[in-house]
Amino acid sequence: MDVPPKMLGMPLVARISERSTGLLYATLAAVLFLFSGIAHAQPADAALYATGEKLFKGNCASCHKPDKDLTGPAMKGARARWDVKGDIYAWVKNSSAYLKTGNPYATELFAKWNKSVMTAQALSNEEIDAVLYYADNYAPPPPKPGAVDASASTGTNDEGSNWPWLVVIALLLLVVGISLSGVRTSLDNAVREAEGKEPLPDMTTGQKFRQWAWNNKAFATILGLFVVVFITLKLWDAAWVVGVYGGDEVPHYKPEQPILFNHTLHAGKVEAGNLAINCQYCHSSAEKSKHAGIPSTNVCMNCHQAVAEGRSPEGTKEIAKIYAAVGWDPATLKYTGRTEPVKWVKVHNLPDHAYFNHAQHVAVGKLECQECHGPIDEKMDVAEQWAPLTMGWCINCHNTKDVKMAGNGYYDEVMARLEETDMGHAELKKYLEDEKISVRELGGWECAKCHY
Ligand code: HEC
Ligand code: HEC
Ligand code: HEC
Ligand code: HEC
Ligand code: HEC
Ligand code: HEC
Repeated sequence: MDVPPKMLGMPLVARISERSTGLLYATLAAVLFLFSGIAHAQPADAALYATGEKLFKGNCASCHKPDKDLTGPAMKGARARWDVKGDIYAWVKNSSAYLKTGNPYATELFAKWNKSVMTAQALSNEEIDAVLYYADNYAPPPPKPGAVDASASTGTNDEGSNWPWLVVIALLLLVVGISLSGVRTSLDNAVREAEGKEPLPDMTTGQKFRQWAWNNKAFATILGLFVVVFITLKLWDAAWVVGVYGGDEVPHYKPEQPILFNHTLHAGKVEAGNLAINCQYCHSSAEKSKHAGIPSTNVCMNCHQAVAEGRSPEGTKEIAKIYAAVGWDPATLKYTGRTEPVKWVKVHNLPDHAYFNHAQHVAVGKLECQECHGPIDEKMDVAEQWAPLTMGWCINCHNTKDVKMAGNGYYDEVMARLEETDMGHAELKKYLEDEKISVRELGGWECAKCHY
């Protein structure tokens, strides 16, 4: 940086502040801007609303929505509808018992909703008040800033939300760096000016670097070597994962599916606003057979015969694709007989020469699906291949995981036989030296167990 004419002859401190105040204000403005978006609007009684929301999501959300009909009517305004016509508390606590009192409003309501039974709810009057308060004051959550479509971000943890901060910090550091280097040039030039010399010539960064390297040859050589070694190691690492999907180092395979089926929404936790459907409701053969299986669209229809609306217009369109596939006419509520199977794209693909069995791992090994498939119920709107599925991945786990023997029917027989003979007993003792039996000790590293 060279000194603008109007600054020549200014005292040093004034010169520095002249250069830096603009930057200082810009920095302050950026920080203020970042903190400004934090305040939110709250309903009148935020605590009651929050209690009601929690109770609603935990007990009622599977059949009710605050503002729309689902299996049961929209709950907004229910208190007003019941005002003088009946006892809403008694209804919620046990609707079947209340129907027996012959209350006309309740009887009519029951008939209107095709006699679907509302399950008895073990709530106190105060809790019911909270739920009704929540429903009456319900406001749909504002779309998250930056989210393109609400359905895509429902219930997911924004792991990436730190990066804007990192960018801001990097920018601030850059600003400080630039102003400091400006200060340094000013100081150098001030000294030269005091000594009566010309100000330093302006050099590009490249020129500066070359000059520095020339003056510090030994250091520059070592630095160069480090760079070469670093790049070689990185290339070596990269070679290991060529053709591998999933794991920590490479992208997870995540093909586009014919219907945008959202795992997080269906299988995720209730507290995060999701439906918490058990994995095996849909992947029902995971416990019993080699394959976990993909559910047929008839399984979807168990619920979607009643649920035609998604959380957004896009979601509703996706549900319409299920109807097209099973041949269901939502207008007449009848099957048309014209079906068209959904062609899901398979995400996980082991090579033919490797054998993997779900029942062995889920029913016998008692592993959670998430150990191999990752947080599919927390942040995978679309199913993706989480683990690398390499041989190293399989045998690493077999090396460290212990077999759950106690109370495991599958192993009672094996244990009994080992204890029968002296040789078996000795073997068992050897296995149990470290007080556990790893999968490897039982043969989890034998080639033929995994290769045909
Ligand atoms: C298993 C499904 C189901 C659950 C769970 C459920 N409801 Fe219902 N609810 C219904 C149905 C269906 C109706 C309509 C009447 C009928 O057919 O029994 C209804 C009706 C109502 C009504 C009357 C609405 C009106 O328009 O007058 C209220 C109030 C109500 N439910 C409150 C609750 C509350 C509060 C909870 C949670 C604590 C809850 N319900 C949980 C199915 C359910
Ligand atoms: C409501 C039904 C449903 C539930 C509940 C469900 N899934 Fe799925 N799952 C599907 C459908 C449909 C597909 C195929 C479409 C896709 O890959 O996204 C699938 C695909 C998958 C795949 C990828 C399969 C492949 O092609 O390799 C995995 C892994 C998976 N599910 C695991 C789980 C786990 C773990 C859970 C529980 C946390 C779960 N699923 C809950 C319906 C369901
Ligand atoms: C020990 C690791 C492991 C566990 C635990 C596990 N899976 Fe898998 N899963 C795999 C592997 C490996 C594949 C690929 C299999 C193949 O291509 O033959 C797979 C494939 C799948 C598929 C694709 C269809 C199929 O059957 O090949 C689905 C769906 C699936 N898993 C769901 C589940 C569910 C649901 C659970 C929990 C009940 C579960 N998995 C538990 C490793 C595991
Ligand atoms: C146990 C009940 C149940 C099953 C089984 C089920 N769903 Fe759903 N699904 C729902 C409910 C309830 C909603 C609406 C959620 C809401 O609006 O809060 C929904 C929403 C959806 C949406 C819209 C999502 C959005 O972002 O708006 C799609 C698409 C969908 N389901 C597809 C499927 C497919 C495909 C299957 C079968 C593999 C399936 N569902 C099985 C209950 C179910
Ligand atoms: C997260 C840990 C884990 C991963 C990953 C894993 N396994 Fe396993 N595996 C186990 C456990 C635990 C058992 C023991 C189950 C039991 O008690 O029999 C087992 C048992 C087996 C067995 C039966 C071994 C025997 O001695 O009978 C085979 C075969 C097997 N796994 C294949 C595979 C393959 C192939 C892969 C990779 C695609 C794989 N496993 C990945 C944990 C894992
Ligand atoms: C726990 C299961 C397991 C055991 C035990 C196992 N393998 Fe593998 N092996 C696999 C899987 C899974 C793959 C496929 C990996 C892939 O596609 O990247 C594989 C791949 C291979 C390949 C092909 C490599 C490639 O790049 O496709 C060879 C060769 C092989 N295994 C040899 C062996 C030998 C020899 C043994 C015994 C010392 C053995 N395996 C034991 C699971 C196993």
